[in-house]
Amino acid sequence: MADRPYTLLSCGMSIDGYLDSVTEKRLPLSNDADFDRVDAVRAACDAILVGAATVRNDNPRLLVRSKARQAERVARGLRPSPIKVTVTGRAHLDPCADFFTAGDSEKLVYCASGTLAEARDRLGPVATVVDAGQPVEMHRVSEDLYTRGVQRLMVEGGGTVHTQFLTEDLVDELHLVVAPFFVGDSRARRFVSDGRFPWNPKRRATLAEVRQIGDVVLLRYALSERFRTD
Ligand SMILES: NC(=O)c1ccc[n+]([C@@H]2O[C@H](COP(=O)([O-])OP(=O)(O)OC[C@H]3O[C@@H](n4cnc5c(N)ncnc54)[C@H](OP(=O)(O)O)[C@@H]3O)[C@@H](O)[C@H]2O)c1
Repeated sequence: MADRPYTLLSCGMSIDGYLDSVTEKRLPLSNDADFDRVDAVRAACDAILVGAATVRNDNPRLLVRSKARQAERVARGLRPSPIKVTVTGRAHLDPCADFFTAGDSEKLVYCASGTLAEARDRLGPVATVVDAGQPVEMHRVSEDLYTRGVQRLMVEGGGTVHTQFLTEDLVDELHLVVAPFFVGDSRARRFVSDGRFPWNPKRRATLAEVRQIGDVVLLRYALSERFRTD
């Protein structure tokens, strides 16, 4: 396989493994201290990737919030926040979404070849639209990001994207935050959907750290030989 970025997958989930509820627009799973931890992780990455459904449902800004962390990045010759990346097959993304309008980070949209023209018409003025092939495969997205200088990638959901990165064995490190409540509705999105994952009862992942952060717990797994603790 060609070179790809060191990849960290980060997400919060309920005790019963859901990423959100079906009733609320965006279900807060974390607490302030953990949001700040995630902010530090973001600040240390070159790019943050989310699926198009997360852009549509959650309207995330995907910016580094702390002014001090922004300033540290700028002092290193970087933009205040990492590159924002999304993946789409249908290209139904609103150019006015915060993903595109908030902050001055570079934005990349990896789009299936079939809807590339539509995506370029709609999103060309606000993002770089990349032909990601048909079907779009995350290992190719990762390799392309690497050629664009992304050495450290943070994947922040949702479940469809998690499933592909994990089943394609593209994740070096997993940060799983468990919120102290249940969602209890199978219509909600789970952390991952069905798939053949490289970690199973015969090949157990390595638990690298358990950290209590107020009322949530961070489980940190090393998923590859490349795992680093820095
Ligand atoms: N708790 C957390 O930490 C967390 C974090 C992020 C998101 N979430 C939640 O997760 C939910 C969304 O999860 P989700 O699984 O429904 O969606 P998702 O993973 O955010 O996005 C899925 C979409 O991404 C595009 N996509 C993904 N893989 C693709 C491929 N190989 N080829 C082409 N397009 C591809 C498609 O977009 P098109 O439909 O445009 O073709 C697909 O519908 C949201 O409700 C959000 O609240 C939770």
